[in-house]
Amino acid sequence: MNILVTGGAGYIGSKVSLDLLELGHKVFIIDNLSKGKRKLIPKKSIFFKLDISNKKQISNLIKKYKIHAVYHFAAFISVPESLKKPKLYLMNNYYKTKIFINNCIENNVKYFIFSSTAAVYENPKKKIKIKENFKRNPKNPYGLSKLLVENYIYSLQNDTKFCILRYFNVAGADKKLRTGQLNNNSNLFNNLSKAILLKNKVFEIYGKNYLTKDGTAVRDFIHLEDLSNIHVKCLSFLKKKLNNKILTLNCGYGEGYSVYDIVSIAKKRYKLNFVYKKKRTGDLPFIVANCNNLQKKLKWRPKFNSIRKIIDLSVRWEKKL
Ligand SMILES: NC(=O)c1ccc[n+]([C@@H]2O[C@H](COP(=O)([O-])OP(=O)(O)OC[C@H]3O[C@@H](n4cnc5c(N)ncnc54)[C@H](O)[C@@H]3O)[C@@H](O)[C@H]2O)c1
Repeated sequence: MNILVTGGAGYIGSKVSLDLLELGHKVFIIDNLSKGKRKLIPKKSIFFKLDISNKKQISNLIKKYKIHAVYHFAAFISVPESLKKPKLYLMNNYYKTKIFINNCIENNVKYFIFSSTAAVYENPKKKIKIKENFKRNPKNPYGLSKLLVENYIYSLQNDTKFCILRYFNVAGADKKLRTGQLNNNSNLFNNLSKAILLKNKVFEIYGKNYLTKDGTAVRDFIHLEDLSNIHVKCLSFLKKKLNNKILTLNCGYGEGYSVYDIVSIAKKRYKLNFVYKKKRTGDLPFIVANCNNLQKKLKWRPKFNSIRKIIDLSVRWEKKL
């Protein structure tokens, strides 16, 4: 199939592109390289340096290459940056995505898979695993920009089949070390790897008095390999699906690890120093997915659900960089 991937010069888009290429699909990537890097773009893909809002050129591309499916990863992704520049986040992630979605629909794209986030949910009052129908009420402009896109997709009436994937915390690298995180200062495993590898680096834990078992924030981490496999399965599911009901799925393991848990696991294997810092605005204390729908609908099972493996791969990737 001819597939268009936006944000394919970034962390997740480049990995999903590699896996799609290995399955024999033709992959066309668009990225404006505002955050992504050329070196992450898979060599076998066909790359266009374009902004997702470039209506004319993208419309020509979809027609010329008979694009059937779109994976839309392109976005700005930093919660702290979104708090400083809310308008930029709404413009890039919401308004531009709206232009892009309309363009895809007008050009008869059949399948559209949208990267959303757990940041669309309200802060859960109790420590429960969040289902897809849990209240949406983002705490930061990044989450809001994604929720607005979701709501736009729900409001559409057309023949394109949509899937919304709400990622929890994505971690690790490609198992063959072809791609991974590049200098994402807000990514826990990126920072942890740097603290393990660099003598003068100390790992910073943000917040030690959350109402969790050890006072540090709890997250549901999902390995990049497993997340990419969900994307592949999702497209097969959409192809077989008869109705146009929008499929919305949480993507995680349904297991919560505190930041301190991660540090403890890392310390068993590596030398690591850490300090506690103030809580960051916009961070939630506890957020873990209920993944029953994901497992049932896609008949998906995780294969890389080990924090130790995620740490090892992240460290090897950081070393390679
Ligand atoms: N990384 C995570 O833990 C995580 C968690 C939840 C959701 N997500 C979502 O997954 C998607 C991919 O995230 P990532 O971690 O790979 O981010 P990334 O920053 O590595 O990749 C995003 C890519 O999009 C490109 N881009 C941004 N705006 C663009 C525009 N207007 N036109 C063209 N290209 C543009 C950037 O240059 C970059 O290459 C994002 O939509 C993000 O919101 C990521």
